[in-house]
Amino acid sequence: YDGNGSPMLVEGLAIHTYACNSDMDKEAFVNSDGDFLIIPVKGQLDIQTELGRLLVFPGEITVVQRELKWKVTLPDGSATGYIQEIFGSHYELLNLGVVGSHGLANPRDFEHPVAHFEVDQTNWEVIYKLGGKLFTCKQDHTPFDVVAWHGNYVPYKYNLDFFISLGSLTREHIDPSIWTVLTARSMTPGVALADFAFIGERWDVAEQSFRPPFFHRNTASEVLGLIKGEFGFTGDFVPGALVLESGFGPHGREDGPYNAAQDMELKPMKILKGTQTVLLETSMMMTLTEHATNSNRRQSNKGGARGLEAKFLKYKDQILADAKAAGLGLIPGL
Ligand SMILES: [Fe+2]
Repeated sequence: YDGNGSPMLVEGLAIHTYACNSDMDKEAFVNSDGDFLIIPVKGQLDIQTELGRLLVFPGEITVVQRELKWKVTLPDGSATGYIQEIFGSHYELLNLGVVGSHGLANPRDFEHPVAHFEVDQTNWEVIYKLGGKLFTCKQDHTPFDVVAWHGNYVPYKYNLDFFISLGSLTREHIDPSIWTVLTARSMTPGVALADFAFIGERWDVAEQSFRPPFFHRNTASEVLGLIKGEFGFTGDFVPGALVLESGFGPHGREDGPYNAAQDMELKPMKILKGTQTVLLETSMMMTLTEHATNSNRRQSNKGGARGLEAKFLKYKDQILADAKAAGLGLIPGL
């Protein structure tokens, strides 16, 4: 879908979508380029790694690190989803700062496999992705023959329902980086190469506020994906789709959600019921792929301010009168 940098420079990232309907057989895959954070949208992934097995459901995410051997079979027959791939860095939990010891993604909720080995002295293929190109080698035994291991360089999975959302209990919309599940450092101290954030069902209680994200610029490039439910964008932001907001570009809500939020009574309310949204943020600028740019499924009529009316024009007469009374000149266009 989009990306930045290069595995050869050992810094950067790529965001992919995947769709598959066939099991891997006597094949294993190795990503020599970087770590994969896999976000299933539809279909379970039965992942066998050198270090054991992981069954990953939609609503969970899994991380499989660089240079590990793994294969995937599909209990549901097919699967779709997103992948965030990072070069030269690894995912880690945030330093929680003033939040303290727990909140957001808690370490106890991450699960990793235990050793699982097979005896299979038949022919296998191992497919390596190196510099974005695929290479194959053959071997006369299964790669999944690791009897025991110790260490912490191990794949893991996490159920997004365990995420503890934090937010404002008084006023204002909080920056969505507050919903970061995992982060990966860039080479610049204090700047993330990638943040993986989760936006799910939660209570919204802020008062004296425009509750949705107001019109803003942020340094991060934001890529938004949907696992299930409705995020409230007008149009067809459906599970499997991705939306890019480029870094420093202004954005906000469209007319429907904007007007609704302007007029709503600010009671405590449960929002995003049954919705799971992921936000893939990066400090880098992103270049779109040919597929993302030219796909016939691309929606070209999207824009943050689409359909918004200039509400202040309703007060044109009063504005002109006030300007005149203040001794100001004419306002161009009014
Ligand atoms: Fe933003």
